Amino acid sequence: MAQAAELVESAIARLLPTTDLPEAVLYDAMRYGSLGGGKRLRPFLVLTSASLFGVGEECAVRTAAAVEFVHCYSLIHDDLPAMDDGDLRRGRPTVHRQFDEATAILAGDGLLTFAFEVLADPATHEDPNVRCQLVAALARAAGPHGMVGGQMLDLIAEHETFDMGTVTRLQRMKTGEMIAFGCEAGAILGKAGAPQRHALHAYAHDLGLAFQIADDLLDIEGTEAETGKGVGRDAVAGKATFVSILGRDRARAQAEMLSRQAVSHLEIFDGRADLLKAVAEYVVTRRA
Ligand code: IPE
Ligand code: IPE
Ligand code: MG
Ligand code: MG
Ligand code: MG
Repeated sequence: MAQAAELVESAIARLLPTTDLPEAVLYDAMRYGSLGGGKRLRPFLVLTSASLFGVGEECAVRTAAAVEFVHCYSLIHDDLPAMDDGDLRRGRPTVHRQFDEATAILAGDGLLTFAFEVLADPATHEDPNVRCQLVAALARAAGPHGMVGGQMLDLIAEHETFDMGTVTRLQRMKTGEMIAFGCEAGAILGKAGAPQRHALHAYAHDLGLAFQIADDLLDIEGTEAETGKGVGRDAVAGKATFVSILGRDRARAQAEMLSRQAVSHLEIFDGRADLLKAVAEYVVTRRA
């Protein structure tokens, strides 16, 4: 993951250079919100799934940067006062704290749209059909059927009681779909066959849910120093999570079960998916 993080860090710095244009502050805020931090899990999934299909590094790295741009936009907007009102992200003041709210909104908008500019560029893949599939898949993962829809449900969950089924759907949309895109992207770039795509999809489905349960547990059990963001905030906001419904022990057991189930979907790749198997274990034992 550290290697993937380094690759995506330099790709982001290259794609988003500083400028002396009059609107330079927009680029500064976009760079601030996307450089220098984060686990880079989604880029790691792009690079690792792409390597299963022998995809060239430049294609994979640009796609990894694109998914990270969308992820960083989602964090910038998630932290806004109108949403989770966070002051700390990746160990630093959030973008609206460092700059101001309007700049943070625009930096998020800029990262979101720029991600699609990057994917649609022929440098990402020579085959326009592949680029089209990447654009469509990321749009679906990030939009109303995915992350944005999940964020809406997450806000509604602050004042409405959701059952397990609805919370599961919320988490899958809010977090799972973007993580699934990370795995799917490698298969799209590598023009993988249906069985491989399905296996990665099933893996990502379980991984994403396990990942968000771990995030909700860390909000209770983690520290600000470990996670680099405010903790204890879900309960204060009254958010419905797996932890609020199941309690800590059963939520942890559920995450561990999902992690094992995720690994079981990768058998089709024989030993070639060991990194993906290891990351499934990591997402439920991580402290950040
Ligand atoms: C945080 O994502 C938001 C969720 C979807 C839970 P990450 O835990 O991947 O955050 P970074 O990218 O490492 O900062
Ligand atoms: C946010 O989930 C997921 C996004 C789509 C950004 P959280 O609100 O739980 O993420 P953190 O805990 O602030 O990172
Ligand atoms: Mg949130
Ligand atoms: Mg939040
Ligand atoms: Mg959280």
